[in-house]
Amino acid sequence: MSTSPALTVMIAAVRKAARGVQRDYGELANLQVSVKGPGDFVTAADKRADKTLREELAKARPNYSFLTEETGVVAGSDPEHRFIIDPIDGTSNFMHAIPMFAINVALERKGELIAAVTYNPVTDELYHAEKGQGCFLNNKRLRVSARKDIHEAVVSYEMPHRGGKDLPLSRAEAGALQAKVVGIRSIGSAALALAYVAAGRFDAFVCRNINPWDMAPGILLVREAGGFVADPSTEANPMESGHILAANAELLPQMKAALAESSKF
Ligand code: IPD
Ligand code: CA
Repeated sequence: MSTSPALTVMIAAVRKAARGVQRDYGELANLQVSVKGPGDFVTAADKRADKTLREELAKARPNYSFLTEETGVVAGSDPEHRFIIDPIDGTSNFMHAIPMFAINVALERKGELIAAVTYNPVTDELYHAEKGQGCFLNNKRLRVSARKDIHEAVVSYEMPHRGGKDLPLSRAEAGALQAKVVGIRSIGSAALALAYVAAGRFDAFVCRNINPWDMAPGILLVREAGGFVADPSTEANPMESGHILAANAELLPQMKAALAESSKF
């Protein structure tokens, strides 16, 4: 397995940001019991990681544009290349000291995803993919699940946070799935859930109303592991609609059909 110079830069930036994130994560145990709580601290941790990623990536690729959760659009002089960053996906897990969150960087060329890194610093699991080169977890090749029947599937359905959009629809869709699958999970990080689909841990994943930075790296991971992504109920591009379904070729249509039955729930 060889990695391109761009991916090498992305992995180095993620690992550098991870050192700070890990230090901050270690502090959280103390903050859990403080009166002020961990809220502001977590916001600061997010911003620190965002800054490290942008600085490291810009050092190596000074002309590329950025889209990041913390800083939005930063236009570069190169109109073709754009890094998409979510410094900590799974912030509420991070805040609760639940070790399920990830540092995420994707690279687009002319609007097409060409490289991706998702890293959980607590479990030291680094997922990476490049277009046409496959998907890897700690340098070991990944394949999506081979299950062909939705009745044997363990699926991840990410429920909206309190006050989030489409709560009734999400409850109905989770209900419709629950009637068919072995079990449903909701792990609080869309980025990690997509990586788990790439790893064949989850047979499928569904999430509504998320942002491009939540899904960009995971989309490439899933595709390069042999899976597919789609909007759960329309023909739209998930990066544009904000709604995503990921699964293997056999389960994708079965998931769509099951979700379409949500009107009965
Ligand atoms: C959140 C996670 C979560 C999804 C939320 C996102 P954040 O990102 O991806 O899985 O359900 O909608 O906002 O805030 O932890 O970076
Ligand atoms: Ca996120």
